[in-house]
Amino acid sequence: MDHEGRLPAKLPAALLLAIALTLAPSTTSSRRAAPRMPVPEPPRSLDPVAVNRDCERCHAEIAREWRGSKHQRAYVDAPFQAALAKEPLPFCRGCHAPEARSSRPPPPERAELGVACVTCHVVDGAPLAAPAPGGEDQGSPSPASSSSPSSPASPSVPHPVLRDPRFASAAACGGCHEFAFPDHAARRAPEPMQLTLTEHAASAYADVPCARCHMPLAGHGPSAHRSHAFASSRRTPERRTPGPRAQRRPRSPRAARRRS
Ligand code: HEC
Ligand code: HEC
Ligand code: HEC
Ligand code: HEC
Ligand code: HEC
Repeated sequence: MDHEGRLPAKLPAALLLAIALTLAPSTTSSRRAAPRMPVPEPPRSLDPVAVNRDCERCHAEIAREWRGSKHQRAYVDAPFQAALAKEPLPFCRGCHAPEARSSRPPPPERAELGVACVTCHVVDGAPLAAPAPGGEDQGSPSPASSSSPSSPASPSVPHPVLRDPRFASAAACGGCHEFAFPDHAARRAPEPMQLTLTEHAASAYADVPCARCHMPLAGHGPSAHRSHAFASSRRTPERRTPGPRAQRRPRSPRAARRRS
């Protein structure tokens, strides 16, 4: 692991300042309003490529998991490119290349980001986080109103953090995994519209947050964290990242519904 508490000391002061400037400004105002959750094509004043590079540099293990995942490859993946070629709608780019403006094809370095660290974590300035790091004892998701933005819980976190119980709940995923196609897009879709949240809410696992199953704990001791590989049944073997041993996964909500 290269992001122990000592790491920040090794970073040039200028870089730390740049990070602080990028991440800090909206913290104060966010203290009033509860932070929003990730959505397709979030409004951005930051440079997502540069900021994401910083996240990856310090969180190397998580970055390794994310690189090559369906999220990172959401735009560049062949199945999506094939579908987009048939139907080149800005609507599609808003979710599959959320770090670029959807009105035109994304620049390559933003296309490569796909659904990035900044997409899910940097919504209102400082990185969003679940109330408890590593998710050991998050309990069930709390109501949206109990959001409590705060500064770092420990001195080992060199940047502000917005803690929000919703980020440990389905709300962190719903902005992209629950949607309807636009009215004008009557067609045979390569993928039916996503109703994962609805399926989840109707399932026997409604109380289990998405991340419990899709982000199993990886690593040990201080490096224990929720895996960001987002492994799935459609993941090809050659893209499987070594490391996190998949937890025993209960039947999916879909599978459960299919059988009932
Ligand atoms: C200068 C190094 C550095 C940079 C840059 C950095 N982080 Fe961190 N971050 C850390 C360290 C160290 C911790 C505490 C140890 C840990 O949780 O890995 C941390 C903690 C966190 C946490 C968990 C907070 C908690 O306690 O639950 C989140 C979430 C997070 N960072 C996200 C990000 C994101 C997203 C970015 C990019 C926008 C980023 N970090 C950039 C070093 C950094
Ligand atoms: C609101 C967000 C959103 C929008 C808009 C969106 N998608 Fe998706 N797309 C997703 C999600 C989430 C998945 C993964 C869902 C799953 O596997 O159940 C996905 C999966 C896919 C896949 C399967 C990729 C693979 O690797 O198997 C294709 C192809 C695809 N989308 C094409 C499109 C096209 C074409 C459009 C525009 C007509 C579009 N999407 C619009 C969110 C979106
Ligand atoms: C900013 C939008 C966005 C957010 C937020 C998001 N996803 Fe996704 N997710 C996508 C897209 C787009 C894809 C499809 C990538 C592809 O294959 O083209 C995807 C793919 C996936 C896949 C793989 C699906 C497959 O067919 O293999 C899983 C699993 C997944 N997401 C789970 C989650 C979970 C759990 C969360 C919340 C912690 C989450 N996602 C949050 C956009 C998002
Ligand atoms: C109880 C564990 C569990 C929970 C909770 C759960 N999932 Fe899943 N999910 C699974 C399993 C297992 C699969 C694989 C199912 C299959 O292949 O039929 C799956 C499949 C998926 C897929 C399609 C990927 C694939 O393998 O084809 C997406 C996208 C997804 N889940 C997103 C979500 C989101 C978003 C939530 C929260 C709203 C959620 N899941 C909640 C276990 C879970
Ligand atoms: C698809 C959305 C998504 C993406 C992309 C994503 N994260 Fe996360 N991340 C989450 C969620 C959700 C959690 C909290 C899970 C929980 O504890 O329930 C989390 C947790 C974390 C934590 C806290 C550690 C822990 O175990 O809880 C860190 C640090 C972090 N992410 C860093 C990153 C970095 C760095 C990247 C890019 C390489 C990244 N994340 C990409 C959704 C995402």
